[in-house]
Amino acid sequence: MQVISDIQQIRYLCQRWRDNGESIAFVPTMGCLHAGHLSLVKKAESLADHVVVSIFVNPLQFNDPDDLLKYPNTLDSDINALAALSVDVLFTPDRDAFYPEGEDKVELLDLGEITTILEGEKRPGHFAGVATVVKRLFELVQPHFAVFGEKDFQQLMVVKQLVEQFSLNVEIVGMPTLREEDGLAMSSRNLRLSSAERAKAGLIYENLVAIKAALNGGNMNFAELEQSTSGNLAHAGFVPDYVVIRNTAQLLPPQNHSEDMVILIAAKLGEIRLIDNIRV
Ligand code: PAJ
Repeated sequence: MQVISDIQQIRYLCQRWRDNGESIAFVPTMGCLHAGHLSLVKKAESLADHVVVSIFVNPLQFNDPDDLLKYPNTLDSDINALAALSVDVLFTPDRDAFYPEGEDKVELLDLGEITTILEGEKRPGHFAGVATVVKRLFELVQPHFAVFGEKDFQQLMVVKQLVEQFSLNVEIVGMPTLREEDGLAMSSRNLRLSSAERAKAGLIYENLVAIKAALNGGNMNFAELEQSTSGNLAHAGFVPDYVVIRNTAQLLPPQNHSEDMVILIAAKLGEIRLIDNIRV
């Protein structure tokens, strides 16, 4: 596995593969890799001739400066984990080279309503930062496929919208969420939970499963399910940002019961904000 941080070098290498008719699958990450990330990499291996993984903690998507400062860096063990798979290139750009115009001068992409609701409402500017970095990464790597996790369900929708809006020539592949034994969705942020918080964190998934069971059992009282779950979480010591049942088409409240639905939860546990979802 080559580790490349130079922008021109990655562009040149990926262009050469493209020119040779060889396909590229890309997995963008912010590092601190866990089995969830690695499942995306394994999927990428099955899709294309070459696999490119990026590790770049994108400052533009952090609305909370403290969160950016505390974002874990485990580059050495990330490199070991990726080297054990069939990854051709790990791309680790420097911030200054990636945003040569300066972070505060970058023109941010606005992808409309999907970026303003739920996570977009709670984290203003977050999805503009995500869309901007993903578009730049796509321009460098020019992947045929790019693999994202459903863990960040709304992000996956934003990326699909980005591809549609700019007619980008890349197929977006979504992958299921990998979980710890108690159901907690794997996340780099889980490392920052205290042991008491970690012991409670599985409750998010437990509540998602309970809502799903209620919906499947015919309970269509969405507002009541949302409120009682929010109450359960608050009672257990979480500070819920939202507990919502939405359609998978636009992440808006379902208008009828035959729509495909997803239940999404965001809640703070101590200092750590956790998000999760399951489809119904
Ligand atoms: P990061 O949080 O590092 O996640 C990288 C990818 O891994 C995302 O597609 C995310 O959905 C996926 N992922 C995270 N946890 C997962 C889990 N438990 N199971 C399966 N997949 C999981 O998401 C980002 O980075 C950034 O916003 C990025 C897209 C790289 C843009 O900066």
